[in-house]
Amino acid sequence: MDRMNMDGTLQDFAQDRPELAYTDEVKAATDHLYAKVSHVVTPMEWPAKAPLIHAINQLKKEKNAVILAHNYMTADIFHCVGDLMGDSLALARMAAESEADIIVQAGVHFMAETAKVLAPNKKVLIPDTRAGCSLASSITGEDVRRIKAAYPGVPVVTYVNTSADVKAECDICCTSSNAVQVVESLGSDTVILLPDQYLAKNVAAQTDVTILTWAGSCEVHEQFTAQDIQDLRDAHPGVVIITHPESPLEVVQAADFAGSTAAMADWAKDSGAKKAVLLTECSMSDNVAADVPEVEFIRPCNLCPHMKRITLENIYDCLRLEQHEVTVPDAVIEGARASVQAMLDLPKPAKPASFDPTKPEKRVDLVVI
Ligand code: 13P
Ligand code: SF4
Repeated sequence: MDRMNMDGTLQDFAQDRPELAYTDEVKAATDHLYAKVSHVVTPMEWPAKAPLIHAINQLKKEKNAVILAHNYMTADIFHCVGDLMGDSLALARMAAESEADIIVQAGVHFMAETAKVLAPNKKVLIPDTRAGCSLASSITGEDVRRIKAAYPGVPVVTYVNTSADVKAECDICCTSSNAVQVVESLGSDTVILLPDQYLAKNVAAQTDVTILTWAGSCEVHEQFTAQDIQDLRDAHPGVVIITHPESPLEVVQAADFAGSTAAMADWAKDSGAKKAVLLTECSMSDNVAADVPEVEFIRPCNLCPHMKRITLENIYDCLRLEQHEVTVPDAVIEGARASVQAMLDLPKPAKPASFDPTKPEKRVDLVVI
């Protein structure tokens, strides 16, 4: 399947929509965008994509809308219609600061909910309501209530990859950009960090705080192994391996660098690497490669089926029809906002934190409820 377009062909979509013709006006308005995606979109494909890109960009102006695009969006979305791009932490900050009337979340549902929690007066739309996340679906607010009852007085940190309901039950939120900082900010010798067991292991290795966790995992990052990294090093001598802390600790320990998607992109750009692997979701390399043509990216990767539900076609329909609005119940929104705001109120580091791969493993137990 073409990884740029999982929901049928653009040609089929444009067939009954005369407004999506590749006219001279569309060509003139979009030619400059093609340069950013020419490494992944062929000249044959571009005339089918350009009218949609142009139409989306027109709709954004008419409706005072912005598109928040996560780093895992396909390159056509990320580079051609995204307004604010970044990792989960950056997207949350941008949602809070945006002046737009409408936010379209080109990402997954928990990201749209976070945007709504931080900007409750704006209309927040998600192009496909099925864009979930294996981490977010691994735990409920009721689970957290039971954990708190079983561990009274132990602070509870929730990874941003959770529902607003879960966030509302926790003391503070974190992302992969600031998880160690958040855990250490609580002044407790033991912290419960939910729901990603692998992030928890990776955080534990970087801190003296004792971490308890939950058996959630990212279905994309849990699949990578230390053997994958050894095989890549054998096949590509000199390659630099950059990974994400949702991967198992052995993967982070075998890599050269680990951090959030923003930290990964920054390192690929700044480290002087000639040959690199971004061992993560497939679109990352496509998006970063546009900015660093001098780096050769070797591209083993895993697709996130949830992120890949977002397409140019459903962004267009969602914005045109203002459909798939994301709402958060009033009873939840205050608590969730307090948890996210507590994170945003911590001192902002100069750059997203990274995970030192040389740190040894520490014991991490699952909570028992
Ligand atoms: P970050 O972009 O915050 O690193 O998160 C990665 C991820 O898996 C988001 O779903
Ligand atoms: Fe969730 Fe993993 Fe997909 Fe991110 S990459 S949305 S953590 S399943």
